[in-house]
Amino acid sequence: MKFYVRTYGCQMNVADSNEMGRHLKAHGLVETQDPEEASILLVNTCTVRQHAEDRAFSEIGRLKRWKAGHAGRKVVVTGCAAERTKEYLEDRFPFVDLVVGAKSIEDFGLMAQRLLERRETDEELDYAHPSVGDKVAAFVTIMRGCNYSCTYCIVPYVRGREIYHSLDQILGETADRVREGAREITLLGQTVNSYRHGQYRFADLLQAVAQVEGVERVRFISPHPYYMTDRVIEKMATVPEVCESLHLPVQSGSNTMLKAMARNYTREQYVSLIGKMRGAMPEMTVSTDIIVGFPGETDDDFRRTLSMVEELQFDWGFIFKYSTREGTPAANLECLPQELIEERHQRCLELIDRIALEKRSALLGTMQEVLVEEENFGRTRTNYKVHIQGQFQPGEHVRVRITNAQRATLQGESDDGNFTFQNFRQENRGRAGARS
Ligand code: 5AD
Ligand code: SF4
Repeated sequence: MKFYVRTYGCQMNVADSNEMGRHLKAHGLVETQDPEEASILLVNTCTVRQHAEDRAFSEIGRLKRWKAGHAGRKVVVTGCAAERTKEYLEDRFPFVDLVVGAKSIEDFGLMAQRLLERRETDEELDYAHPSVGDKVAAFVTIMRGCNYSCTYCIVPYVRGREIYHSLDQILGETADRVREGAREITLLGQTVNSYRHGQYRFADLLQAVAQVEGVERVRFISPHPYYMTDRVIEKMATVPEVCESLHLPVQSGSNTMLKAMARNYTREQYVSLIGKMRGAMPEMTVSTDIIVGFPGETDDDFRRTLSMVEELQFDWGFIFKYSTREGTPAANLECLPQELIEERHQRCLELIDRIALEKRSALLGTMQEVLVEEENFGRTRTNYKVHIQGQFQPGEHVRVRITNAQRATLQGESDDGNFTFQNFRQENRGRAGARS
């Protein structure tokens, strides 16, 4: 019996899909990339913006035919949109066999068991069973939910308040992923660096995960500026396994907007934090999320966002058009005209892309340490994607000279010679220094 998973949305959803997949595998199911072969089709939905939800719903609509194609086929809908619209989904798509909201992902094992009408005892529900054949770069969810209430954001409503896995659970999960072939671990949480469990904070966790036998790289997404403490920065700068890349959502460059969004920091605080971190790790890449067209955003507010992008020279970024989410505080505010939002989105994208290209171009000719994920594809420590000429083993570290930096995925060729974490940083430190 085979299952097929379609995932919408963020990396947290990807990790949840993997986790649900492991539960199904524990029941003897095999994953397939072809929906036609599958008996169970799982749609993991996103609701962070209306567009994401619309796409998931039209996909679910199409599954009626898929289900009718073979007797016994089952459709499972999970994730954030499922949490938000459970009753509506059940009404509109009565052929769906199981709806599992984002808050109930951890109970998925039991639900899957019921769906499959099999019984096993002593099931460990905290994490799904390990399986073989996972990727070189694996995710480990360290916490769920969010205690913030950014005024545009639906996440706290659909995922609930923060709950944390214990350090032991996280280390166990990390070891499982390593046994399955992972070399790089990305720690996941909605505000990942607000992690706390017993006496442990996020900085302790970074260090502990890095020390798990077989872990060669550690990353994390998405941190919140408020919890980017000196201890976290110190661990990033000194623990060799922790990669020098940072995805730190800023959302806006205007203090008025940051306040209206309830982000809990000012532009100046954000800028100074990035300055401090670049001081500690000059080669660090910084990417961000920006929302344009939040209600009340004036031309002046928007210009501040553009000027901040110029000032901070992000390596890349994701620009989102504000999308009203019912039930959030901002949903009561008057929206800007859609054309204005579109225009700002376009201008901001152009700026981000121009800077990103300049940053990538500076990598031309540099030597990078690439961890191979698939035969000729991998990523640098700084999280650039690279196509390497030739064929390599997943999990291999390849010393790569960058030969083309025009596209978001760089191209490079392997270059013989040993390298260590220290000399990688030194080799590129000269260049990073020269750039800034
Ligand atoms: N509208 C537009 N973008 C949003 N994001 C979250 N909620 C909304 C919304 N209502 C963006 C934020 C966040 C990213 C994951 O999605 O930039 O960092
Ligand atoms: Fe949403 Fe804000 Fe929580 Fe991020 S920190 S998930 S944007 S409420």
